Amino acid sequence: MVASFKFFIAIVLSCLIISKGQQRQDCALNQVQIFQAASGRVIQGKTERIVFLINLCECALLGVELNCQGFQSIEELDRSVFLGPTRDGRCLYVNKNLIRQNIARFTYAFDPQYNFSVKSLLRPNGTCIS
Ligand SMILES: *[C@@H]1O[C@H](CO)[C@@H](O)[C@H](O)[C@H]1NC(C)=O
Ligand SMILES: *[C@@H]1O[C@H](CO)[C@@H](O)[C@H](O)[C@H]1NC(C)=O
Repeated sequence: MVASFKFFIAIVLSCLIISKGQQRQDCALNQVQIFQAASGRVIQGKTERIVFLINLCECALLGVELNCQGFQSIEELDRSVFLGPTRDGRCLYVNKNLIRQNIARFTYAFDPQYNFSVKSLLRPNGTCIS
């Protein structure tokens, strides 16, 4: 009896969690805003730039896929957070902590500045603020 009651509670709880997750499925691409600024450093004659990614969605993101056709950097990119570009011009910024209103960043060095745009968002389950 006690065991089945616990089982019932577990079912109810997991349904609540699943439905809550599904209510908040969508983050619009424009809810991640990208800004960049010169850091003040110059690397091999190129301006070092800091790219800021600001998550305005109420869901945490695992990462942001960026359009980055033709992107290059003189400075070595931090490969623990930045992957690409792929041959078809996609880059992936990975940050498991890209929670709401968190500002994530990465640096590169090139002139002129490369204007990234958001291609898609990678979002884990169950991490939205209600
Ligand atoms: C990138 O953005 C900057 C600032 O908005 C702008 O001045 C520049 O023309 C843009 N570059 C390209 C290639 O669109
Ligand atoms: C989220 O959970 C649902 C249901 O278990 C699953 O189908 C889906 O693949 C999950 N998505 C991610 C990104 O883990």
